[in-house]
Amino acid sequence: MNMAATRAFRARILFATAPDAVVDIPDGLLVVGSDGRILSCGPWDGAFSGPVEDFSGHLLIPGLVDVHSHIPQLDCRGKHGATLLDWLDRYIFPAEKAFADPKVVEDVARRFFKKLILNGTTTAGLYASIHADATDRCFEIMRAAGVRGFIGKVMMDQYSPAGLLEKTSDSLNESERMCAKWNGAEGGRLRYAFTPRFVPTCSLELLREVGRLARESGAYLQSHIAETEGENARVRELYPQYADSVALFEDMDCLGARTVLAHAIHLNDDAFVRLAATGTKIAHCPTSNFFLKSGAMPAAKVEAAGVDYALGTDVGAGTSMSIFTEMRHADYAQMHATMTPIKTFWLATQGGARVMSMEGDVGSLEAGMFADFNICAVERIDPSFRLADLATDEILSLLMYRGDGQAIEATYVAGERLDVDGF
Ligand code: GUN
Ligand code: FE
Repeated sequence: MNMAATRAFRARILFATAPDAVVDIPDGLLVVGSDGRILSCGPWDGAFSGPVEDFSGHLLIPGLVDVHSHIPQLDCRGKHGATLLDWLDRYIFPAEKAFADPKVVEDVARRFFKKLILNGTTTAGLYASIHADATDRCFEIMRAAGVRGFIGKVMMDQYSPAGLLEKTSDSLNESERMCAKWNGAEGGRLRYAFTPRFVPTCSLELLREVGRLARESGAYLQSHIAETEGENARVRELYPQYADSVALFEDMDCLGARTVLAHAIHLNDDAFVRLAATGTKIAHCPTSNFFLKSGAMPAAKVEAAGVDYALGTDVGAGTSMSIFTEMRHADYAQMHATMTPIKTFWLATQGGARVMSMEGDVGSLEAGMFADFNICAVERIDPSFRLADLATDEILSLLMYRGDGQAIEATYVAGERLDVDGF
């Protein structure tokens, strides 16, 4: 295809192609076609005839992928709770109830997407609240913000506080309506995820229908699983007929390649094998797991079972909106497995794209991918750093261990610069 080049960017270009492989082009040129996809990515040779945006001395990396976060929980970050279930009652449920008020949605959602962009995240898997109107508005703001990904209306039809308890049929009908409106919108930039909150707040009737709707629509399905022993105990109490939440979700036909389950910490080996066999993905949210003392996702077991996972900030249990911060904590969470800077960088980009079934569109900077990328300045982390002096793994290491997103200077989706003041 002979697509006219619309824009070209010169910089040091760095992206991961595998958990142990990166491409580092010290003086590179990224050429973007009029469809927003990359026409070519390679060394600058002086032969390119069109106009070039010159970011020499800067680093150009793929847009970051945050596979799990909650829009209404932005201002809950850092409000400590004794356990997951107490913290939900004390802070999270009130914050989500407040999404019944359009003014709250407007304020919180706008600030959420601005912070997402300022942290270099271009693709995200998100939860709204149980409210269809709030979910609809979150999609509109996401559309205006220019980022990519999916959102879901949270579903809760049992054991939930007043104001967050839905009738099963309303929950399903409203979710179906949001899916019909948003799944595939903006040329596929926006997608829908059926979002049963977690097993304790969902009836089997609801989950069975969610499995069917997700399958029929081709949309995503997202939920939380086995985050704490307290959650597991509650699931056993409610549904003693199932060995664990994986068996329950599987029986409800909720597992599959477009299902993203957050946490997956307290599961036995067999459960990970079931997740792998169904192609189900895990959102690993280490900062959140430290904050709630949930434990650590057993990365070695998850990898041995062959389950795909990537990084999520899980705001508001996660205190940061930076995927670089998650990269760091993904390493700190594993005492016996090594998370190298290259591996966590891969998780934050191509691994994230794979978890969101978007690996043909984003996550690397090869020709054919959407031109979703960040321009970074390492001096923003420390004025003594000079990009040209740093080896590939040193750059990634500094971004991961000393950066919390401050290196991000500009963020592009499909070759267009995102403007945090433009929505
Ligand atoms: N489990 C069910 N809901 C939530 C939530 O909002 N945050 C976290 N961290 N875990 C959950
Ligand atoms: Fe979460």
